[in-house]
Amino acid sequence: MNILIKNGRIIDPGRGFDRVGDLLITDGKTSWVGGEIAPPQSGYDIINAWGMVICPGFVDLHCHLRQPGFEHKETIATGTKAAARGGFTTVCCMPNTDPPLDNKSTVDYVRAVVESEGVIRVLPIGCVTKGRKGQELADFAELAAAGVVAFSDDGAPVSNARLMRQALAHSKESGLPVIDHCEDLALTEGGQVNEGEVSTKLGLHDMPAVAEEVMVARDLVLARATGGHLHIAHVSTAGAVGLIRLARRNDVPVTAEVTPHHLTLTESKVLGYDANAKVNPPLRTKEDTQALLRGLKENMIDAIATDHAPHSEADKTGDFRKAAFGISGLETALGSLLSLVHSGQVELTTLIAKLTSGPAKILGDKYSKLGSLAIGAPADVTIFDPNLNWVVDPRSFVSKGKNTPLAGALLKGKVMATLYQGKIVYRDDSVRVKKET
Ligand code: DOR
Repeated sequence: MNILIKNGRIIDPGRGFDRVGDLLITDGKTSWVGGEIAPPQSGYDIINAWGMVICPGFVDLHCHLRQPGFEHKETIATGTKAAARGGFTTVCCMPNTDPPLDNKSTVDYVRAVVESEGVIRVLPIGCVTKGRKGQELADFAELAAAGVVAFSDDGAPVSNARLMRQALAHSKESGLPVIDHCEDLALTEGGQVNEGEVSTKLGLHDMPAVAEEVMVARDLVLARATGGHLHIAHVSTAGAVGLIRLARRNDVPVTAEVTPHHLTLTESKVLGYDANAKVNPPLRTKEDTQALLRGLKENMIDAIATDHAPHSEADKTGDFRKAAFGISGLETALGSLLSLVHSGQVELTTLIAKLTSGPAKILGDKYSKLGSLAIGAPADVTIFDPNLNWVVDPRSFVSKGKNTPLAGALLKGKVMATLYQGKIVYRDDSVRVKKET
């Protein structure tokens, strides 16, 4: 299948490319990116992208697809369709499944289901510890051979510093990052929301910023000592950004990601006990969102990752204290992030870089073609209208997780089409494909 995408603003931050023009896909690969191109004689489809942005398919370093074990929350089929609808062509899936991805056979299972039911690329992440229990290291060599792209016990921290040190030493050998859920459990025990005004008003136990920061500090020290690649997941506090800045200045091998919700929402969203805004780490303060944004612009934070955490309605209703942590984020990521561009807080090219070349780089040389529109690379392409207004209706989500704090919100900017390896895997109803046979 050949596709010609015409007249869009093509932005490929990894190659410093930004101009209005055409993109041609031949046999699933990008074959032309530039000014207007004469269409091939026949056998191709045309998408008119006038007024739209054409960019590399987004790469999500952090999402939860829930299969195996929690298929009532999400499956690989529904999660990858939701990702495509959000403009993502690659997602890395977290191993907090049941059973967890701590051995070759579970990783093989995920890969087999992706092969038969996934609509985009899924790169599995293996556990740091067996069963995510924090007691004994998983077999890193076995997991690496099975094709995991990183190690993480996400959803839970690696509380034992000796194990984290060993994990980072293995990372130094394999070159695969350890993705760190930074939380000191003794400081967050029973916690529901950020420590401060809101926790006091609601009378809920809190999860203080320092609970994240002491763990970030510990693991930066261990990364420096071992030389292993530490990747900090869902950074949420100003203090954590400060620690990462200090570490980067001292050449510690650390990278970091931030979520759309920690960049755009604050703890006030949980006033009224809306469990759809209950997430770990919790939504923080305005000062924190400002520091995260600064960290992103100053390249202290390399990537935006969704931490898509779909849950069933039952998991999110009833007593706030018992509700699950997490936000279903794949389908609203771009629209919510574009609010930062429309309000002049971040450049569009920076935003796209953090969704494409930034995360791809963290995955290492093997995935160097992801997050780019390089000629000859598999054509993973996202087309979005930066100015289209739409109202978030969770009932229309493809994800099984309808748990979003953005229900009813007006967002400006929408994914119009997503192409994975040259095939259209998502298309908004209004996008016409003209066939030239
Ligand atoms: O809010 C969260 N939900 N944070 C995590 O770290 C895990 C995730 C989940 O798996 O639901």
